Amino acid sequence: MTNDERQKTIPKLVRADLALLPDYTPAHVTDPRAVIKLDSNENAYGPSPRVVQALSDTRTWQFYFGQDDVREQLARYANVAPENIVITNGGDEAIDLVLRAVLEHGDVVIDAPPSFEMYRISALANRARVFDVPRDENFALDVETICQTSNVKVICLASPNNPDGQLLPRVDLLRLLELGALVMLDEAYFEYAGESAVDLISEFPNLVLVRTFSKWAGLAGLRVGYIVASPELCNALHKLRAPYNVNWAGLVAARESLNDAEYLLNNVRATIAERERMCIELGKLGWLEPIPSKTNFLLLRVRGREPQAIKQSLAQRGILIRAFKSPRLKEYIRISIGTPQQNEIVLNALRNL
Ligand SMILES: Cc1ncc(COP(=O)(O)O)c(C=O)c1O
Repeated sequence: MTNDERQKTIPKLVRADLALLPDYTPAHVTDPRAVIKLDSNENAYGPSPRVVQALSDTRTWQFYFGQDDVREQLARYANVAPENIVITNGGDEAIDLVLRAVLEHGDVVIDAPPSFEMYRISALANRARVFDVPRDENFALDVETICQTSNVKVICLASPNNPDGQLLPRVDLLRLLELGALVMLDEAYFEYAGESAVDLISEFPNLVLVRTFSKWAGLAGLRVGYIVASPELCNALHKLRAPYNVNWAGLVAARESLNDAEYLLNNVRATIAERERMCIELGKLGWLEPIPSKTNFLLLRVRGREPQAIKQSLAQRGILIRAFKSPRLKEYIRISIGTPQQNEIVLNALRNL
């Protein structure tokens, strides 16, 4: 093969429409414990000690393990039947699996930016057309425009939403469910919000919840999420998913997290208390306007300073936060809630900027 032929091979083989997807730029830190990492909404307290113990005690890595046992345990936690649950490789796989199961070429998917980027990426990867229905200046959903859009197959929403941390009002959700399109409601932060739409699952077969162990259980690196949906949709998803989509380490960790849910939920409560304290303290600085949040992070509007410069100054002090490139969010920063000690360091650094 000549060099020229070699260079043309892959563009000829890869789907041309993948050019629509943004370039792959994952957040990556070589040693997350060497910094105060508050840029990806991870759990500052880490996993349950029972997870760490169980992973080091497990001696059965050579076998394949299915998800049935953990699904039963998870069903009790989520207050649904095991038939309502599919365990996935993180919330990311949950989003992709749902979209892969329902989308046909050219179907219309509603995204409500700013929101979690994976809805758009997975919808495009599954050959859908994405209609953006932007949120208003307070990040509220434009329900009216969604209701007026015709031929919608899927509506992707997060409650609470990332990046603003606010819940979707239940009246809005009920209105959207009546449209008949599939409503994929991402409840990645539901433990921090204390509010869920899980009670609507039996009434609305077009409602699908996406959840994760990354946030409340501190398992982001192990990739465990799950879907709560009607038994019929779950059946279809089981057919489509890889038989061992969640690895045994992830399943062991999920099992032990559920066994130690009280410990983890205590950490969630500590994070909520810190979130409320940080909201007040950051507001006192005078140049940051926090948006009240129902998650483990805060979105803050920056007055009279440059968000990217704040991000860089904090990075020089070993503190990682998020600043955004998109025009809609260019005046904002997002800070995950850390431990009380970490939060104190952040406050002092911001006071001294
Ligand atoms: C709204 C939302 N959904 C899903 C996820 C993905 O979670 P996971 O780590 O389970 O893939 C995130 C992660 O930040 C998120 O913010």
